[in-house]
Amino acid sequence: MKLSIFALLAGAATSVLADWEFPAGVPRSVDEFRARHPYHSKRTCRRKVTIRASSNDTDDVSDEFLKGLQEANNGGTLWMPKGSTYVIGKPLDLTFLNNVHVRLDGEIKFTDDTPYWQEHAFRHPFQNSIMFWKWGGKDIKIEGSGTLNGNGQRWWNEFDGGEILNGDNAYLRPILFYVENATRFSLEGVHLKDSPCWTTFWVTSQDISLKNLACTAESKTTSLPKNTDFFDSLNVKNVEVEKVWVNIGDDCFSPKTNLTNAHVNTMYCNGTHGQSMGSIGQYAGEKSIIEDVVVENVWMLNGQHAARLKSWAGPNVGYGYINNITFRNFYGANNEYTAFLDSCYFNINASTCAQYPSQVNITNILFENFQGYSSGKYGDAVARLTCSPAAVCENIKFKDFNITSPCGGKPVVICDGIGGDIGIPCVNSTSPEATAALKHKCTTAMAVLPTPTPW
Ligand SMILES: *[C@@H]1O[C@H](CO)[C@@H](O)[C@H](O)[C@H]1NC(C)=O
Ligand SMILES: *[C@@H]1O[C@H](CO)[C@@H](O)[C@H](O)[C@H]1NC(C)=O
Ligand SMILES: *[C@@H]1O[C@H](CO)[C@@H](O)[C@H](O)[C@H]1NC(C)=O
Ligand SMILES: *[C@@H]1O[C@H](CO)[C@@H](O)[C@H](O)[C@H]1NC(C)=O
Ligand SMILES: *[C@@H]1O[C@H](CO)[C@@H](O)[C@H](O)[C@H]1NC(C)=O
Ligand SMILES: *[C@@H]1O[C@H](CO)[C@@H](O)[C@H](O)[C@H]1NC(C)=O
Ligand SMILES: *[C@@H]1O[C@H](CO)[C@@H](O)[C@H](O)[C@H]1NC(C)=O
Ligand SMILES: *[C@@H]1O[C@H](CO)[C@@H](O)[C@H](O)[C@H]1NC(C)=O
Ligand SMILES: *[C@@H]1O[C@H](CO)[C@@H](O)[C@H](O)[C@H]1NC(C)=O
Repeated sequence: MKLSIFALLAGAATSVLADWEFPAGVPRSVDEFRARHPYHSKRTCRRKVTIRASSNDTDDVSDEFLKGLQEANNGGTLWMPKGSTYVIGKPLDLTFLNNVHVRLDGEIKFTDDTPYWQEHAFRHPFQNSIMFWKWGGKDIKIEGSGTLNGNGQRWWNEFDGGEILNGDNAYLRPILFYVENATRFSLEGVHLKDSPCWTTFWVTSQDISLKNLACTAESKTTSLPKNTDFFDSLNVKNVEVEKVWVNIGDDCFSPKTNLTNAHVNTMYCNGTHGQSMGSIGQYAGEKSIIEDVVVENVWMLNGQHAARLKSWAGPNVGYGYINNITFRNFYGANNEYTAFLDSCYFNINASTCAQYPSQVNITNILFENFQGYSSGKYGDAVARLTCSPAAVCENIKFKDFNITSPCGGKPVVICDGIGGDIGIPCVNSTSPEATAALKHKCTTAMAVLPTPTPW
């Protein structure tokens, strides 16, 4: 198969991305993803509730939607058939749910009255989040072939140039799907589309299942869909993610403070910042952990990093640990660092990081069976691990790590501050090998991909 792949060129102010192709067998679009992983709703004999659909883009049916869920609660299903659009123009508190299903084959679409939502949306203190609605309760399932549409274009346009994590950012954008205090929540089949900010955020919940989803955020202007992470969480346990297609502009699967036990299997992330554990350790005095996670069978394409861990450093940050994380069976194409451990998050320079190092311990991390190639942005450096001198960083291992450099040199793994050996050769960032590798940036076509794909 013919492949012509150009990296996002390092150093250069402009980047060139032309004409790349996915490996054979890897879906290239939502349609191909659906063809490879078909989704069929199951028949059901649950009590059926319907509501009227919107007749135009400003016909707000949020009152009807709320009423429909109240009626369907305790054993029923709210049906939202194909071809119908349901416009939501008011914040909805849906935290009363118990044993309710939503069969979403149509579209739920939020209005894009940005000043209205900024004034009336729900709020969560974590990273200054705002939300269109809140879901919560027990035994909740949303399934179908429909769409949850965040209508994000106006939000991205108006936010353009902003930086969400800057303390002085005042332009807040709603999260498309927010869940709080839920037990046994399942989201299946639907397309999560064009979220203004994070796509999903799960808070103080357990037994979460996300399957067969497509998640996209695609701009029609030059304003990019920033911070549209597929998955973020706070205080959750027992998470299953399976067969998900993601094409957005930030983190792919990215649990934050306090996640225990997650299994991610079969994901395609295009143009993302990576499968990211964290960031954690952001807030002064606060403990945060991420523990017991397996992320496997993943294609990371045209993004920033692939397997990633990030913890905050700097004055006034928190502490905690990331423990027992396995990244297994990764295929990376055209990513900056395919494995990246960053203990100097967010946006601080090396001297500030050295002065106020991260207090997040990193232990028992495995990167196993990585194939593919990097983007050349960091030359022949294909992976980088930076541990904190103020925290434990132990048992970080690589096994069958075969990421090549498109710049043609021997791939180099950079590591600083790690206790013990990592299973493959690595050099520190001031070594002559690292310096030379980082300098050897490239602008040429990528290496040929293996066919068939390795898993
Ligand atoms: C949208 O639909 C509502 C309800 O049917 C109607 O009152 C309103 O006039 C319509 N607006 C437009 C712009 O068509
Ligand atoms: C979630 O639970 C916490 C603790 O019980 C409570 O303070 C909070 O109000 C709940 N949130 C909702 C939306 O019910
Ligand atoms: C994949 O991501 C790249 C870079 O963001 C983008 O140019 C391309 O359109 C995306 N492809 C698909 C199929 O979504
Ligand atoms: C995270 O869990 C720790 C206990 O391990 C707790 O002290 C901390 O408050 C939790 N963080 C949040 C944001 O709830
Ligand atoms: C590490 O996490 C995985 C995934 O939750 C779990 O299956 C495994 O038992 C954990 N290992 C240890 C040593 O706790
Ligand atoms: C980090 O490791 C050190 C040394 O084992 C330990 O004293 C400290 O409690 C750990 N931090 C956390 C948050 O568990
Ligand atoms: C690093 O950042 C700090 C805080 O912004 C600044 O005071 C310092 O001058 C910077 N140091 C270097 C070497 O750029
Ligand atoms: C590593 O990847 C390259 C390029 O895809 C391939 O030629 C080589 O056989 C692989 N090596 C191993 C040990 O898998
Ligand atoms: C980095 O590696 C070089 C050898 O390549 C060594 O001389 C130097 O002391 C190392 N620096 C640190 C901080 O370990």
